[in-house]
Amino acid sequence: MVITVASFKGGVGKTTTAVHVAAYLQSSAGTMLVDGDPNRSSTEWGRRGRLPFRVVTEREAALHAREYEHIVIDTKARPEEEDLKELARGCHLLVIPCTPDPLSLQALRLTIQALHSIGAERYRVLLTVVPPRPSRDGEDAREMLASLGVPCFQTQVRRLVAFQRAVLEGTTVKDVDDPRSAAGWEDYCGVGKEILEAATRAAA
Ligand SMILES: Nc1ncnc2c1ncn2[C@@H]1O[C@H](COP(=O)(O)OP(=O)(O)OP(=O)(O)O)[C@@H](O)[C@H]1O
Ligand SMILES: [Mg+2]
Repeated sequence: MVITVASFKGGVGKTTTAVHVAAYLQSSAGTMLVDGDPNRSSTEWGRRGRLPFRVVTEREAALHAREYEHIVIDTKARPEEEDLKELARGCHLLVIPCTPDPLSLQALRLTIQALHSIGAERYRVLLTVVPPRPSRDGEDAREMLASLGVPCFQTQVRRLVAFQRAVLEGTTVKDVDDPRSAAGWEDYCGVGKEILEAATRAAA
């Protein structure tokens, strides 16, 4: 299965999502993360510490692809529409992280319009960096997306400092020594389960 993480807006949690989805999938079957961002953020993440899966650049990917059951691809922000078309064609599911704030939601509308115009159907929006209560930003964003008929993950990823520490420590949130790290890992396990369920349904 090939899962690609993409978004027009930068800094919405693409790399964090790619790393954690890869870690979740790796726990049941061999998984490789392809760093398709010229900034090489996921490669650097892995270099700082130890991630429980292999990270390669897109130029190295073809050589290793057959050794893995799952491939997760991290991409750069602001893809051209043509890039997005290729990304959508080249995977089983496009995961589009979005933070629940007006600028990000506006950028998401553009992404969705672009996906519609190219006829892409296999995509799902993931709400990330969702602030805790009493903020209603997560629910409001979800309702807005539902009213537009945008497919969304049921799971949303909470805003937790542990995710920033994971980047610095070169690990996944699961291995960060923080009282909230288990909550962060639980969120991405929910996302991973939904991805596997979607894949099973698609194959049936
Ligand atoms: N759930 C979260 N809670 C708190 N901080 C988060 C969360 N997810 C991501 N972050 C932080 O937000 C910042 C941006 O995340 P990330 O690098 O994953 O985004 P990106 O979309 O890949 O960015 P870019 O477009 O630059 O590639 C990072 O500092 C990351 O640690
Ligand atoms: Mg990134």
